[in-house]
Amino acid sequence: MATVDVRVAAVNVMLQLHNEGGSLSRLLPEAQQGVADKDKALLQALCFGMSRFSGQLSGLVDSLLSKPLKRKDTDVYLLMQLGVFQLAFTRVAPHAAVDNAVAAVKKMGKPWAKGLVNAVLRNYQRQPAALLAKLDEPAALSHPAWLLKRFKRDWPEHWQSIVEQNNRQAPMTLRVNQSKIKCEDYLHKLDSAGIQATRSDAIETAIQLQSPVAVQSLPAFEQGEVSVQDAAAQYAAVVLGRGEGQRLLDACAAPGGKTAHALEHGQWDEVVALDQDADRLARVEETLMRLQLSDRCQLQCADAANTEQWWDKKQFDVILLDAPCSGTGVIRRHPDIKLLRRNTDIDQLVQTQQQLLQSLWKTLKPGGKLLYATCSVLKPENEHQVNRFLEQQEDAALAEFDLPVGLARPNAGIQILPGDQELDGFFYSLLVKAG
Ligand SMILES: C[S@@+](CC[C@H](N)C(=O)[O-])C[C@H]1O[C@@H](n2cnc3c(N)ncnc32)[C@H](O)[C@@H]1O
Repeated sequence: MATVDVRVAAVNVMLQLHNEGGSLSRLLPEAQQGVADKDKALLQALCFGMSRFSGQLSGLVDSLLSKPLKRKDTDVYLLMQLGVFQLAFTRVAPHAAVDNAVAAVKKMGKPWAKGLVNAVLRNYQRQPAALLAKLDEPAALSHPAWLLKRFKRDWPEHWQSIVEQNNRQAPMTLRVNQSKIKCEDYLHKLDSAGIQATRSDAIETAIQLQSPVAVQSLPAFEQGEVSVQDAAAQYAAVVLGRGEGQRLLDACAAPGGKTAHALEHGQWDEVVALDQDADRLARVEETLMRLQLSDRCQLQCADAANTEQWWDKKQFDVILLDAPCSGTGVIRRHPDIKLLRRNTDIDQLVQTQQQLLQSLWKTLKPGGKLLYATCSVLKPENEHQVNRFLEQQEDAALAEFDLPVGLARPNAGIQILPGDQELDGFFYSLLVKAG
C-alpha cells in the first residue's frame, strides 16, 4: 500500500484540528495507518510538538512572512511551523529539516511554495533567539492569552510553573493491578523486558516508565496486570475506599480508568458506571473485559444529570463525579487543548458541572459520600464550584481526606498542580451528605 509522507500526514492532522476541531487522540490513530511503520512514532511526535508549541511556532512564522498566507494555503503555513519545530526543538540536522519541508511542499501539490518555505526556514535559522525575543508573552509561552490570564488570576504564585509544566512531555505511568500482581514483581517483569521504570513516590500502585512504550509491549498487558494511568488519577479509587457492602456510582465513567481501579481496589457490592457518550462507554467495556472485571460492573449510557432516564431510585453509598472539565491540568498530556479550548467553554463547563452535582446529590444516601474530581487547575471549576454547592446545599459538608501531595484548600479540597511529584494537575473534593 502506498504510504503518505510523514510531514504531509502531520500537516493534514494539524489542518483538521485547525479547521474541524476533533482531538489528536481521535485523529492520530487514523493518520498513523497511512504512514510507513517506521514513521508512526515520528508522526505522533510531530503533531504533539506542533500542538505543544503552536503559539511560538505561529508567532515565529508570522514574523517571517511579509504578508499572511491565504486561508486555502493554511497547509503551507502549518508546514512552515513543522519546519521551525524541527529546527527549534529537535535534534534533526538543520539542512535535513529544511530540505524535507521543501520536498513535502511538492508532495502537497503546491510546488509554487518551495521558494517561500525554503526562505522562511533559512531566515529563521539565521536569527532564532532574536525572533523569539520579539514574540509577545502568549506566543512566547505557547499558551492562548485568555488561558494565561486565568492561570495568573487563579495562581499568582504558581502560574509560571504551571505554564512550564504544560510545555513539557508527561511521563508514561502505569497502574499495577494489585489484585493480580505486586508492584515489585511487575517491576521485575519490566526489567526482564528491557523497559526501564521506577516506582512512583505518589502512590503505591504507580510505576513510572523512563520513556514511553507501546502498550502492546508491556508484559501481561492483555492479561490485565497493568493499565496506563497517571498517578494523580489513581488517588480517586483510594479516596473512594474499599467498598465492602456498598453501592458505587461512577457518574462520568468513560474511558473507564477510575471505574477499573475502583473495582481492582475495592469489594463493592454493586458498581454502576454511566457515561452519556456511547463510543466512549464502549471503551469502558473493553477495559473491563481486558481486566476481567466486567461481571462486577453495570454499564449504562445516559445523561447523569437526567436521573429520570437511568436511576432506579435506590440511593448510592458512594458516588464518583469525575466531571467533564477544561482539562487544564493535563495539557502536557493533551497539548491540543491549547488549540481547541475557548474561554467561553469554561462558563459552559462550570454550568454542566453544577447541574451534575445537583442532580446526583439526590441519588446519594444520607451519610453517603460524593467524590468530586476534575483534571482542571481553574478555580471556577474546582474550589469555587464546591464552595457554591456547599452554600446552596444545606445537607452537604466537606469530609476530611488526605493525599501525600497537593495544595490543601481548607474550604474545598485538594489541588494537585501539573508537575507536583511529576503528576498531572487534578482536583479532588470529598462531600458528605448529612445522615
Ligand atoms: C473526565 S472524563 C471521565 C474520565 C473517567 N472517569 C476515567 O477515569 O477514565 C468525563 C466524562 O464525562 C462524560 N460526560 C459528560 N457529560 C456527561 C453527562 N451529563 N452524563 C454522563 N456522562 C457525561 C464524558 O463523555 C466523559 O467521558
